[in-house]
Amino acid sequence: MAQEKSQGLSKGLTNYGDPAFSLYLRRSFAKSMGYSAEMLARPVVGIADSRSGFNNCHRHFPELIEAVKRGVIAAGGLPIEFPTTSLGEVFLSPTSMMFRNLMAMDVEEMVRAQPMDAVVLVGGCDKTVPAQLMGAASADVPAVQLLAGPMMPTSYRGERLGACTDCRRFWAMYRAGKVDAQGIADVEGNLATTAGTCAVMGTASTMAALAEALGMALPGSAAIPAVHADRLRAGEASGRRAVELVKNPIRPSQIITQRSVENAVRVLLAIGGSTNAIIHLTAIAGRVGVKIDLNRLNEVSDSTPVLVDLKPTGQFYMSDLYAAGGVGAVLRELKPLLHLECMSVTGETLGQRLAHEEGAWVDRAVVRPLSDPLAKEGGLVALFGSLAPNGAILKRSAADANLFEREGRAVVFNSLDDLAARVDDPALDITADDFMVLQNAGPKSGYAMPEAGYLPIPQKLARAGVKDMVRISDARMSGTAYGTIVLHVSPEAAAGGPLALVRNGDRIRLSVKQRKIDLLLPENELSKRKAAWKPPVTPPARGYAKLYMDHVLQAEHGCDFDFLRKA
Ligand code: FES
Repeated sequence: MAQEKSQGLSKGLTNYGDPAFSLYLRRSFAKSMGYSAEMLARPVVGIADSRSGFNNCHRHFPELIEAVKRGVIAAGGLPIEFPTTSLGEVFLSPTSMMFRNLMAMDVEEMVRAQPMDAVVLVGGCDKTVPAQLMGAASADVPAVQLLAGPMMPTSYRGERLGACTDCRRFWAMYRAGKVDAQGIADVEGNLATTAGTCAVMGTASTMAALAEALGMALPGSAAIPAVHADRLRAGEASGRRAVELVKNPIRPSQIITQRSVENAVRVLLAIGGSTNAIIHLTAIAGRVGVKIDLNRLNEVSDSTPVLVDLKPTGQFYMSDLYAAGGVGAVLRELKPLLHLECMSVTGETLGQRLAHEEGAWVDRAVVRPLSDPLAKEGGLVALFGSLAPNGAILKRSAADANLFEREGRAVVFNSLDDLAARVDDPALDITADDFMVLQNAGPKSGYAMPEAGYLPIPQKLARAGVKDMVRISDARMSGTAYGTIVLHVSPEAAAGGPLALVRNGDRIRLSVKQRKIDLLLPENELSKRKAAWKPPVTPPARGYAKLYMDHVLQAEHGCDFDFLRKA
């Protein structure tokens, strides 16, 4: 039997030294699953399934994947689902961030190694969408990103609760003695009550919006709640579209470009999106050789207003954004600032998409017009200076502007364990005007850059009514958190960056206006401390931990592995 065109099951044959035998054997084994010859002759659409019992956000995937399959079959393809690594945000230790690159490698290799002509990537929880887009960009097989969709908020004692800004709000009240043990136990069962990703503009929702803005997810699909019937219709449409992409291929590398990445940055800023997204977008862009320059981020931030009024910085939930018009409403407002020629998985440019949607209804309480924004400037800024020569990030839209221009005394915690041990010590020498500094929580710290940058306000200050302080670290922060928090300081402390050299009592100057963060020490003192510095972690000897430690890059390179970025 001669080998047929390299499509569907005949693609990428297992090597037995006889291609015809390989195809015969593959068909034979596929037939053991009950497929007819007619089905096996169709183009194959892989469905990358990231569900797991350790991932609450993806618990509706069986039904969603059925919808994708329906769409693939209706369009003439053969859908074949396959499992990949799943990253359930709160179930992984030390942090899901350590495993994002592992999942990206898994997705890339399985998309490339298995016989599929296109793939639908089904993901949602924080790291899963970045990992899927990184993997798909490297494999460069036509791909459609299908998002899990957000959870619904829950009505609880007269207010709406949703993970996870309200999780943090109640926990802060509990720490401050305003909610008792029974109260916090009652709230615990009402924060996350449906399938789907966190209900606010956290990292998962931000990445969903960016997937649509990049053109990798279908128009209008990012904000559909997980439990809404429209989510299933988006699944069906994603399956159909994947089959069409087999006939007229558009590859991720044609969609993820310098200009579409800049569009995504605009959207990130306009939605007041998560600080984590800048790391993930940098990693995704790096897979196709596109660089995000933090100085350019500041220029774009200064010319992009905040338009969306969602928690953690505003008042609404993702389901409200969907009802208000979704990401399309934001894109239409940003139209004068966007590169409209960018291609999407639909085969249409962004400009063509927005032309179809002209005049669509928008709830202006949730998505403001460009002429009347919530804030004139974007949510994120990059800071540079002697404390962060390669940059740091501040989410100004989630911070107290009264703390933006000031100098403070450093109160240093040299690790997460040190922070946990001392932050609530009544004897801790700290005032509300001090700058809390956390060292050794970056990519190479042994903690793998956890979302620990939201340092808790010391209990004695929280009980006295202090709600925000300047907090500085090389860690990340949950997209659902808020405060005057300087993150992603680079180079990190564990790599010997200046952050490692800060001591209690040093003075630090923060100027958001000048985009500066400086450690106010003379050069000779810095050099002396640098000479005495010793790496805080013993490198792991084996396994993925070793691969991670040997190859993870700093935040400004998206914390990708050096060997996975495109040269
Ligand atoms: Fe999955 Fe928040 S825990 S998105």
